[in-house]
Amino acid sequence: MRACSTPALDRLRSALPADRVADDPSTRLAYATEASREPGLCGGVVRVRSEAEVRAVLGWAKTEQVGVVTRGSGTSPTGSARPLAGELVLDMAAMNRIVAIDPRDFAAVVEPGVPCGTLQAAVEAAGLFYPPDPASSRFSTLGGNVATSAGGLRAFKYGTTRDYVLGMRVVLMGGELLSLGGRSLKDVVGYDLMRLMVGSEGTLGVITELTLRLIPAPRARLTIVASFADDEGAFRGADAVTAKGVFPRALESMDRTTLEIVATAAGRAPEPGVGSRLLIELDGGEAEVATEARHCEEGLRAAGASEVLLAKTPEEQTRLWSERRAISSSVSKMAVAKSSEDIGVPRSALPEAVRRIRAAAARTPIRVLAYGHAGDANLHCNFLYDPRRPEEKRHLSELKREVFEIVLGLGGTISGEHGIGTKKIPYVTRALGPLAVRISQGVKRLFDPDELLNPGKLWPAEEVA
Ligand code: LAC
Ligand code: ZN
Repeated sequence: MRACSTPALDRLRSALPADRVADDPSTRLAYATEASREPGLCGGVVRVRSEAEVRAVLGWAKTEQVGVVTRGSGTSPTGSARPLAGELVLDMAAMNRIVAIDPRDFAAVVEPGVPCGTLQAAVEAAGLFYPPDPASSRFSTLGGNVATSAGGLRAFKYGTTRDYVLGMRVVLMGGELLSLGGRSLKDVVGYDLMRLMVGSEGTLGVITELTLRLIPAPRARLTIVASFADDEGAFRGADAVTAKGVFPRALESMDRTTLEIVATAAGRAPEPGVGSRLLIELDGGEAEVATEARHCEEGLRAAGASEVLLAKTPEEQTRLWSERRAISSSVSKMAVAKSSEDIGVPRSALPEAVRRIRAAAARTPIRVLAYGHAGDANLHCNFLYDPRRPEEKRHLSELKREVFEIVLGLGGTISGEHGIGTKKIPYVTRALGPLAVRISQGVKRLFDPDELLNPGKLWPAEEVA
């Protein structure tokens, strides 16, 4: 792979409308990293407006042998949208048209730069529902959501982005166009190449259009907050809710440290005596939601909840959920540095996983907090450390390895929704096994033999034996 050079960028400029390519120092700096905050090196930026322009860029990249990193709005916490060695960043944010919302086909057709929340609002206005809901939905783009199979707050009941992709158009390295799937709700012909693209983190192609599955909008929803005295109370509460036969669309937990940070970020004093909290959202028909709320409340109280509150007004619901969505950025503001992991385990193993992770962290100077998607047992364990202290960095790297061993030992995964990027490459072979990694490296070679698409991401550089 070559880095961007001035002559190569000039040739790209001449192939595109005048304002598309930028390589001034401040633009390159702005695109050198994303939410991972890890430093990278950006050689230039192209802000495309059409599929034809994407094809031109990838044709140019193949001829010039320049690496390309596709980027939506840069919310990736794993480094997956970060150029490492002077690659061209392909900014998809301006391809942000909602092409169609079709109630009869239960499908939406969008360009990849549409923010998830923009599509959610548009389909809800049409009485429909797009369930995937990453915490970053206001900003994160649907192309990025598909590239990582984003999960988020409603995955327990409704599944992740993967479950809502019906079709896509993908430009391959060199500029060829691959069209996969469509509006048919069922389609079993051939290998599932579309599924291969989902979660491929920009390493196989560039998505230029998506057909996404919609469902009818639930008629009612209700938010419930339950408080517990200790850190594990929320997990007992989550189990009690599902044991009552209630399947909430969101079942989110926050431990004591997370609650302290959320309160401080919102300018409130932390509530004394609250060790953990569950934030629950039910949806369905009016009567069903009312019955489920009663069952939930009974279950939560039996599990030891000190308080169970129903959000009274839409404003109250909005406040609770926007505080929840802001946890990641609130922690970033409060901590010197954080390492945020999104481990997943079988639901029954969640309390044990968190107990062992806390015990491992307690043997180090590193503070741990845990919050996230308790419903599907995908938790964000954040490790707060001071990178200016070499011994803390050493402890962190040992702790991370230990945490991944804990979750894998319990039958879990090293990432439930954020993906691998660059940050988790050292653990991916241990997680998947060498055979799966070798096959994946072969797939990557088939699509991108010169390793020009998002180089250095997802898989180890060396061939796994
Ligand atoms: C969340 C993001 C960090 O759930 O995935 O807040
Ligand atoms: Zn999350």
